[in-house]
Amino acid sequence: MDTEKTPPPAVEPWHRSRMLLRNPVSLAGVALGIVSVANIFIFFLIDQIATKPSPYIGILAYMVSPGFLILSLLLMLAGVLLERRKHAAPSAFYPRIDLNDHTQRSAVISFITFLLVFVVVSAAGSYKAYEFTESTSFCGQLCHTVMIPEYTAYQLSPHARVACAECHVGAGATWFVKSKLSGSRQVFATIFNTYPRPIPSPVRNLRPAQETCEQCHWPKKFYGGQLKVFSHFGSDEKNTLRQIRMLIKTGGGDPATGAPEGIHWHMNIGNKIDYVAADDKRQVIPYIHVEDLQGRVTEYYAKDSSLSKDQIAKSPRHHMDCVDCHNRPTHIYVPPDQSVDQALLARRIDTSLPFIKQEAVTVLAATYKTNDEALRAIASGLQGFYETKYPDVAKSRQLEIRNAVTEIQQIYSRTTFPDMKLNWQTHPNNLGHYYYPGCFRCHDGQHVSADGRAISKDCNQCHSVMSETEGTATATAPAPAFQHPVDIGDLTQVSCADCHTGGTGP
Ligand code: HEC
Ligand code: HEC
Ligand code: HEC
Ligand code: HEC
Ligand code: HEC
Ligand code: HEC
Repeated sequence: MDTEKTPPPAVEPWHRSRMLLRNPVSLAGVALGIVSVANIFIFFLIDQIATKPSPYIGILAYMVSPGFLILSLLLMLAGVLLERRKHAAPSAFYPRIDLNDHTQRSAVISFITFLLVFVVVSAAGSYKAYEFTESTSFCGQLCHTVMIPEYTAYQLSPHARVACAECHVGAGATWFVKSKLSGSRQVFATIFNTYPRPIPSPVRNLRPAQETCEQCHWPKKFYGGQLKVFSHFGSDEKNTLRQIRMLIKTGGGDPATGAPEGIHWHMNIGNKIDYVAADDKRQVIPYIHVEDLQGRVTEYYAKDSSLSKDQIAKSPRHHMDCVDCHNRPTHIYVPPDQSVDQALLARRIDTSLPFIKQEAVTVLAATYKTNDEALRAIASGLQGFYETKYPDVAKSRQLEIRNAVTEIQQIYSRTTFPDMKLNWQTHPNNLGHYYYPGCFRCHDGQHVSADGRAISKDCNQCHSVMSETEGTATATAPAPAFQHPVDIGDLTQVSCADCHTGGTGP
């Protein structure tokens, strides 16, 4: 007897489920799916081929289109389920699959293959989306007006090739999640225009420097000294150049690579330094706690502090790290005084124009409501000055004056952002003490320990002057100590930033 049975008429359930797709909801899903796949493909190609793709392409390719693709799959599924509910008895809600049937078998195999390919492709897609949200163009360009000051300063800084996320997120899952959570809040603030202007600093939850800066900069490195030349053009008619050559004693903080000494003594390898700040900007420091290698503790209190010892004990302590000095490693808003000096030194502005230093700083440091108003006022201010005070110069040196105006307008656009209410005074730079309190927040001779030792303001502790000259500095007679060009008495008794504000004056 022939035992082989005739195949059961089981084509029907699979055929039926395909029929189930033929409903308006699922068909809309299929159409949306095809369009999304085509879009992903095209945007992906543009992103790969274009030399400078717009950041919006990334958003479309890796976030918006995949979102629609997932929506389309959900639509298809929803349509199928609705259709089944209409036709099938509750007991036969799920399709009966018989793998002995070759039509059904190949259908199941194609379905699983599709699923696998989809999972792999969407994993790659999610990675691309993740990579994109970490990219500099996402952080710096998409939130255009919000981040424009930070992004502009960043592009002109030593870290222009370091991605924003390297300092602001770093490696590991915890900070990734933290940053994405606060990131989505920021996206909403941007959309609804509720973000603060300027964006506040210090950043409250900045990741500790050990996990960001120190991934690239080995903290144990011993730097020794570094020769730096500081150039200043005077506010006189001749814009007299003064140059100071100084050996900055950067040093190091780890006994393994050199004596812990100099500025990087604060690296917190041999010692631990914690402090209390009396203000949000951390510019007023009433209390410092130092624990050395042997575990000995020294506490320094500011003589003139407005906080009582009790209040200080209750205040939160900050652990000193790289960012307490290098708080502007990349978002450096150069003061007008310094940016004009740099432009004169690089000959982008003609140094023979009378009083150009003083006038340039005056127009740059004035307050304007918008960028356009500022650019117009800079042009009319400088032209006006030469027409009234130096009519000959205004006539004979039109080209130099026009070039100076263009350069000063560019300086303004790079350093001052009226829309975001931000200029060089907004975020003090803590490295040094010339335009901002900086090191003198602690090294002012006014912070004393119980045994009467003060944190030193000795002018040779952090640097020594090699030479100080009028005109270009040459390696001539070394200057024993810094000579202030104007007699202002004992230098250890003054605060430089009181007169050297970075704007007009002193
Ligand atoms: C070299 C490391 C580094 C890189 C790269 C970097 N930042 Fe920062 N950023 C900092 C530090 C340090 C601060 C200030 C922290 C403080 O004082 O608390 C800061 C502060 C900020 C602030 C707060 C406002 C301010 O100016 O202090 C914003 C906004 C910001 N960064 C955005 C960006 C964006 C956007 C990028 C990429 C275009 C970027 N950052 C790249 C280190 C970095
Ligand atoms: C992804 C690596 C990377 C990270 C993270 C990084 N830096 Fe740097 N940094 C560099 C490189 C590279 C240079 C040298 C740039 C050059 O000279 O061209 C540099 C230069 C510097 C300099 C010398 C600047 C100058 O004026 O010459 C300082 C200071 C510095 N970094 C501090 C920091 C601080 C503080 C942080 C953390 C907020 C940080 N860096 C994070 C890579 C990094
Ligand atoms: C007490 C303040 C302070 C602390 C804390 C500090 N630095 Fe510095 N660092 C300085 C000063 C000041 C210089 C000299 C820079 C100058 O004059 O331009 C410097 C120079 C540097 C340079 C450039 C050195 C060279 O010779 O080119 C690097 C890189 C650097 N620091 C990285 C770091 C890192 C990383 C940390 C944290 C582990 C750190 N610094 C902590 C104050 C500090
Ligand atoms: C939060 C407070 C604080 C800040 C800000 C600070 N310092 Fe200090 N610094 C100290 C303390 C405390 C000591 C130890 C004083 C002592 O032992 O007499 C010290 C010691 C030093 C020393 C001597 C190290 C040695 O060889 O023993 C140098 C150099 C120095 N600081 C440079 C700087 C520079 C440069 C800056 C600014 C970029 C700066 N400091 C900012 C607190 C600070
Ligand atoms: C705690 C360390 C420290 C002490 C104390 C200190 N300085 Fe400085 N000084 C610095 C640092 C760091 C810089 C370099 C900042 C930079 O690279 O921009 C600097 C820069 C300078 C400059 C050049 C500024 C410029 O932009 O032209 C002069 C001038 C100067 N110091 C004079 C003095 C005098 C005078 C004293 C004594 C009252 C003094 N310093 C005490 C750390 C110190
Ligand atoms: C009482 C106000 C006052 C204080 C405080 C002060 N200066 Fe000055 N400083 C001046 C004046 C005024 C000039 C001359 C400006 C000119 O000739 O254009 C000057 C010029 C300079 C110059 C030459 C640069 C230039 O623009 O010609 C340097 C460098 C300098 N001061 C450093 C310092 C340092 C470092 C400190 C802190 C230890 C300090 N000054 C504190 C008023 C002051």
